[in-house]
Amino acid sequence: MTRAKIIGTGSYVPERVLSNLDLEKMVDTSDEWIKSRSGISERRIAGENQSTSDLCVEAAKKALEMANMNADDIDLLMVATVTPDFRLPSVSCVVQDKLGLINAASMDIVAACAGFIHSLSIAQAYIANSMYHRIMIIGAEELSSITNYKDRNTCVLFGDGAGAAIVTASDDDSGILSTYLKSDGRLSKLLYIPAGGVAQPYTHNGSGPTHDDYFLSMNGNEIYKHAVRSMGNAAERVIKSAGLESSDIDWLVPHQANIRIIQATAKRIGLPMEKVFINLEKYGNTSAASIPLALDEAVRSGVIKKNDNIVSAAFGGGLTWGAVLFRW
Ligand SMILES: CC(C)(COP(=O)(O)OP(=O)(O)OC[C@H]1O[C@@H](n2cnc3c(N)ncnc32)[C@H](O)[C@@H]1OP(=O)(O)O)[C@@H](O)C(=O)NCCC(=O)NCCS
Repeated sequence: MTRAKIIGTGSYVPERVLSNLDLEKMVDTSDEWIKSRSGISERRIAGENQSTSDLCVEAAKKALEMANMNADDIDLLMVATVTPDFRLPSVSCVVQDKLGLINAASMDIVAACAGFIHSLSIAQAYIANSMYHRIMIIGAEELSSITNYKDRNTCVLFGDGAGAAIVTASDDDSGILSTYLKSDGRLSKLLYIPAGGVAQPYTHNGSGPTHDDYFLSMNGNEIYKHAVRSMGNAAERVIKSAGLESSDIDWLVPHQANIRIIQATAKRIGLPMEKVFINLEKYGNTSAASIPLALDEAVRSGVIKKNDNIVSAAFGGGLTWGAVLFRW
C-alpha cells in the first residue's frame, strides 16, 4: 500500500502571551496549582482582528515553503478545528481563498483535539487509493473564543495556535505505517459547548441559552481518566499493527493537554520521557493545533531525524481519540 508522508510542516502562534500570573489576577488560581496539575506556564491568545483562518494561513505558508510547493499544487485541504471563523462556510473554504489554493477541494474535520490525527488518517486513505496527491492538513484553534475566563476549571488549560503539514505519497519506506481512530459519543457531555448549535440555538427574545452556555463546559476528572486510558491504548495499537515494539519508537509527539496524561501515555507504551516531545508549558492545550505545533517545533529544531519512528496520539471531546505511527 502506498504510504502517505509528511514533507513539510509549519506553525504559528499569536504574539500575546497569557501567563499563569495573569490568570491569578482573573480567577482564584495560582501559578503553582496550574503548573503542578497540568504542566502549563503560559498560553497564546489571538489578537482581536485575528481569526482561526488567519492562524491557519501563517502556519500553512511555512509548511508549503518547507515542502517546496506552491498554493496551486494542493489538491485537498483539510482543516481540523472546533473554532471555525463561521458556522457557514467551513473555515477550510475561507483558508482556501486566503491562500489561493485554486485547485483544491476543502473540508473541515471536527474531531476536537484528535482532529489532526483524524486528518492524517484520512490523508493516508486518499493517498493510498490515489484520489488526492498533495494534501494540506491544518490543525488550528482559537480556543480563547470559547473559553470562559471566569471558570478556573477550564480557562487555565487552553490556548490558541495553528500547525500545518503537507502530505504526499512516499517513494521510500518512510511515511505512515499505521493509524487507529475511535470515538465514544456516549461521553459527549464530558467536554462540550451547550449552546450555539441547533440543540440550544440563539433566540431573539432571551428565552434561550445563557451567555455562559456558549463556552466550553468540562468534567476534568472524568476526561482525565478516559484520556489516560485511550491515548495509551491507541499508541499501543499503532505500534503493534505496524509490527514494531516500543523499543523501535524514537519519539512520542502527543497531544499536549496535560503533562500527567502525557507521562501516563509514555509509561503505558514503555517509552522514557526523554523520547517524548513536549511544548505544553509554552502553549497549553491548543486542541487540534497541538500535535502539528509540536511536530513542527521538533522538526525545525532538528530533534526529529530521517528514519525516526514517531507515534502521535490524541484524545478530545466527542469523545474522540486515535494515534498515527509514521517514519520520518
Ligand atoms: C482539570 C485538571 C487539571 C484538574 O486536575 P486535578 O488534579 O484532577 O484536580 P481536581 O479536579 O481534583 O480539582 C482539585 C481541586 O482544585 C480546584 N481547582 C480546579 N481548577 C483550579 C484552578 N485553576 N486553580 C485552583 N484550583 C482549582 C477544584 O475546584 C478542586 O477543588 P475542591 O477539591 O475544593 O473541589 C485535570 O483533571 C485534567 O487535566 N483533566 C483533563 C482535562 C483536559 O485535558 N481536557 C481537554 C481534553 S483534550
